[in-house]
Amino acid sequence: MSFDVTALPGATFGGLLTAPINAADLIFSAEANPTILPLLLNEFNGFLLIKGMGMLEEKPELFLRLSQIFGTEVESYKETRMAQQNVHPEIPEILMVSNIPPADRKPPAQPNPPRNPDGSLPIQFPHRRGWHTDQSYRRPPPDISLFFCVVPAPKGQAQTLYANGIAAYESLTSEMKTRINSLIGIHAKPGVGRGEVAVRAGEAPIQLGPGDQPQQQPVVRVHPETGAKSLYLCEAGQMDWVDGPFAGIEPGPDGEGADLLYKLMTHFTKPEFVYVHDWDKGDLVIYDNRTLIHAATWFDATKHQRLMWRTTVSGNPGPEYAGETKSWIVP
Ligand SMILES: [Fe+2]
Repeated sequence: MSFDVTALPGATFGGLLTAPINAADLIFSAEANPTILPLLLNEFNGFLLIKGMGMLEEKPELFLRLSQIFGTEVESYKETRMAQQNVHPEIPEILMVSNIPPADRKPPAQPNPPRNPDGSLPIQFPHRRGWHTDQSYRRPPPDISLFFCVVPAPKGQAQTLYANGIAAYESLTSEMKTRINSLIGIHAKPGVGRGEVAVRAGEAPIQLGPGDQPQQQPVVRVHPETGAKSLYLCEAGQMDWVDGPFAGIEPGPDGEGADLLYKLMTHFTKPEFVYVHDWDKGDLVIYDNRTLIHAATWFDATKHQRLMWRTTVSGNPGPEYAGETKSWIVP
């Protein structure tokens, strides 16, 4: 069976997979020729949308099998101390991002103001907050995430925004590229008192165990399969504003590093690099965390329920991580 992918409508990057349209056919075909989907993901800038995958809700094991095609390791959230109410009861590799009890994930806050002056959805940092690449506070960081919509919020809410780090890097001035090519970012787990808001509020950072320490990552990552260079950064909540956000540059919220992060993140999230995905039930998105960042938008959790499943695939972070043990697993 052949795979058909077209350019993603409404986006400057990404692909829309239009065949096979049946989830079981898709997964069996992909398993029969396991290099095809990863190659298509690279060809379409690290982003694939597949619609009509609703069958996976009844067959979560197929979602896991599809995930396994993209790398050697699919994270088991039972082993990584995820709160169990947010882990699928049968398949521990599936994280449930949901406000439906027992899951307890709340939506992000609305931007302030919630709309642009022309009424459109705020996209660009710093108006839009929450831009990140999954688990960059770990070394080695993960490669790819798969995100599946089981219960969507109403259209116009709970979108996911994706920004293309390859295009954002390529369009930097040569002076900026030279400045950041060897630069190291310091990433921290959200909620530990090291993000911009907490540091500005004067909160004391939480004492972190050896498995939760902030981690250094290259600001410019080289994709291990395509060789493409990409910006690899998060915004204020997932960088370390105590010792960073950059190694070797004046730290803290008013330092030279903060100023540079604001410049880079404002550039990274320009609308021309961003795709806004409004979810339908059964949508599956596959995204490469090595080259894309994303952000969630608000939904009215007092009125609506939402359930997304996510898997996280690792195993090919690139040669700069060769031989490293997992920073988050303490022997
Ligand atoms: Fe995420």
